[in-house]
Amino acid sequence: PAFRELLLQELSQDGCIKAVGQADVIRNQFSGATFERIIDCSGKCVLPGLVDAHTHPVWAGDRVHEFAMKLAGASYMEIHQAGGGIHFTVEHTQNATEEELFNTFKHRLERMRNAGSTLVECKSGYGLNLETELKMLRVIERAKQSMDIGISSTYCGAHSVPKGKTATEATDDIINNHLPKLKELKLSGEIHVNNIDVFCEKGVFDLESTRRILQAGKNIGLQLNFHGDELHPMKSAELGAELGARAVSHLEEVSDEGITAMARAKCAAVLLPTTAYMLRLKQPQARKMLDEGVIVALGSDFNPNAYCFSMPMVMHLACVNMKMSMNEALAAATINAAYVLGKSDTHGSIETGKQGDLVIINSSRWEHLIYQFGGHEALINYVIVKGQVVYE
Ligand code: NIG
Ligand code: FE
Repeated sequence: PAFRELLLQELSQDGCIKAVGQADVIRNQFSGATFERIIDCSGKCVLPGLVDAHTHPVWAGDRVHEFAMKLAGASYMEIHQAGGGIHFTVEHTQNATEEELFNTFKHRLERMRNAGSTLVECKSGYGLNLETELKMLRVIERAKQSMDIGISSTYCGAHSVPKGKTATEATDDIINNHLPKLKELKLSGEIHVNNIDVFCEKGVFDLESTRRILQAGKNIGLQLNFHGDELHPMKSAELGAELGARAVSHLEEVSDEGITAMARAKCAAVLLPTTAYMLRLKQPQARKMLDEGVIVALGSDFNPNAYCFSMPMVMHLACVNMKMSMNEALAAATINAAYVLGKSDTHGSIETGKQGDLVIINSSRWEHLIYQFGGHEALINYVIVKGQVVYE
């Protein structure tokens, strides 16, 4: 409510916030300065740019037909084991050109940005073979350079076991071939991956394979941030805490010991309300996690199973279905999500010196960003990244 006006200053070109406070105080402080643009925020709210801690946005081959199958009663794993699900998208992504993948990805990023996301985690994982994983990572790298939204990239080659391979063979391939290549490309400056992910699940990668892959990723400097305890209790949370992971995602089936271990290790929980909703899973125990001091973040999990770009919608679902308060949901979709990406020093809150990433909504009550569900176009007036208006 302190913001009656927002001053977007161009005193230096670094895109960082120069001052926070009452408009008249700030005006005095910068009285001699010329401003490129002044936005009158009377009657509006200024919030930190939203951070989406978990997305799978690069792929070809949507699965609208599987949505119908799921509505008719098929489970996620039944479809996966019958060769659909991730396998379906992998086949289409392997066959797509880099240009096709970039164009659809760009459009998806724009939709995320227009819904208020200013920093997004983006995974590979629909390639599985090295060639296609690299194609996806190149597409993400290109968007990092060219798009007006922040990206943290994640190598997720262990998203599924490729057809014709065992999980052990796939694990060996990742450790012996994929990760050394990523290290080489980082050194040459071609592709800079930030995080590593594994789908730790019964019938996909077991705890031991997950441990081997994550440890090898850690050895080449990647932050650990992986899928765990979603459909079956796997002790993924315990593993995440043990290995010093930044975060574990999903956690519908986490154990009590896993929650305690995550709190102690400051390993964040990335909760994904769209997926729990879409697949009618048991809801993760957000309340218990929060009460025990786990750092809880949110992600859209945008993917061909959970087709949702919108963090306001995600916050709404987190409040209604996971019993989070609106304050908790906003923290989970900003500063805590930035923590997951190792960026809470520079992103996720409105503080002097942090990157100028903001969302301005057309309501004097910030809670409208969560209270309203669907149709946020009329509510979000401006999205600002590094002090520049990128959507209005
Ligand atoms: O987070 N669980 C694994 N990965 C994704 C789904 C990917 C897909 O179905 O294409 C998730 O839900
Ligand atoms: Fe996911």
